[in-house]
Amino acid sequence: MTLCLGSVLVRFGHLIRLPISVADATVVGMAGDPVLYFNDVADRYDEAAPFFASFARETATALGIGRFAEVLDVGAGRGALAKEALTHGCTEVIAVDAAPRMMQLLARERTRIGTAVMDAQRLAFRDLAFDAVVSAFVIHIVPDPQQVMREMVRVVRSSGLVAVVVPGRADDLPDPWDDPIRPIVNDFRRHFADGHGRHAGGNYADEEALLLEAGLRDVQGVTVEVRLPVSNGEHYWQWLTSHGAGAFTQGLPGTARSEFRRRVTAAVDERPGFCIRRSAAVWCGRRHGR
Ligand SMILES: C[S@@+](CC[C@H](N)C(=O)[O-])C[C@H]1O[C@@H](n2cnc3c(N)ncnc32)[C@H](O)[C@@H]1O
Repeated sequence: MTLCLGSVLVRFGHLIRLPISVADATVVGMAGDPVLYFNDVADRYDEAAPFFASFARETATALGIGRFAEVLDVGAGRGALAKEALTHGCTEVIAVDAAPRMMQLLARERTRIGTAVMDAQRLAFRDLAFDAVVSAFVIHIVPDPQQVMREMVRVVRSSGLVAVVVPGRADDLPDPWDDPIRPIVNDFRRHFADGHGRHAGGNYADEEALLLEAGLRDVQGVTVEVRLPVSNGEHYWQWLTSHGAGAFTQGLPGTARSEFRRRVTAAVDERPGFCIRRSAAVWCGRRHGR
């Protein structure tokens, strides 16, 4: 049985309380809250280059996601991984995100994906509701990653799959390619009190430890990579400022931001055929059970 609340579509039997209707939801949070940031960039998110869509394709294949019927995508954004789950044959896919605008845009696409505005730290689903619970590029930016992991494990069935995707390689080694933008980013880190500046609200969780501490078995991490051509420096800038890394540029003082933009775009323009190259770690485990 499904429940429709405006543009919200979720399986009624899965719910322990009614989520906020996607149409009615407003974003609340304090300055620096990543949800506010992602709500603001939602309309441009993954539009300049299909970065998260490409990672979702690699992730879905790495996980063999088509083996699972009912899938929950936590912090789904514009639904990159949820859409891959449908493409791979999952029959019931639900996407939740705390940023209402992300969910509004996904709901507007009228796919078969159920959508709801929801905090990953307090999922409104009953225990053991899904065959697989996945979350891409979220666990490293939430204030309480242990709580998110507990919630993901709570709503997955016995023997079900829990998976998180985070930037960087599963073996923690540096990427085996040169990134001419990285030294420029490093030059500008001094403008941030934490010397870091990326991933507004970021944490330093160890994903393998998170999965093990949550009691999952068969925990493993694999590295996936994407390579996306950009046409010029401005194209790269549009990509850079329309996802999490944009929090870095937003955090720079005005003159430093202009200088950063000038150096980044020039570095890309100097290299015809430039490609965005990035890696991510897909960490997964199974809940104990049959
Ligand atoms: C980098 S985006 C990733 C989106 C999507 N998973 C993808 O791969 O494209 C991070 C997403 O996590 C969401 N998010 C951050 N904190 C959250 C929370 N506490 N609960 C639910 N979603 C959250 C943001 O709104 C944003 O859409």
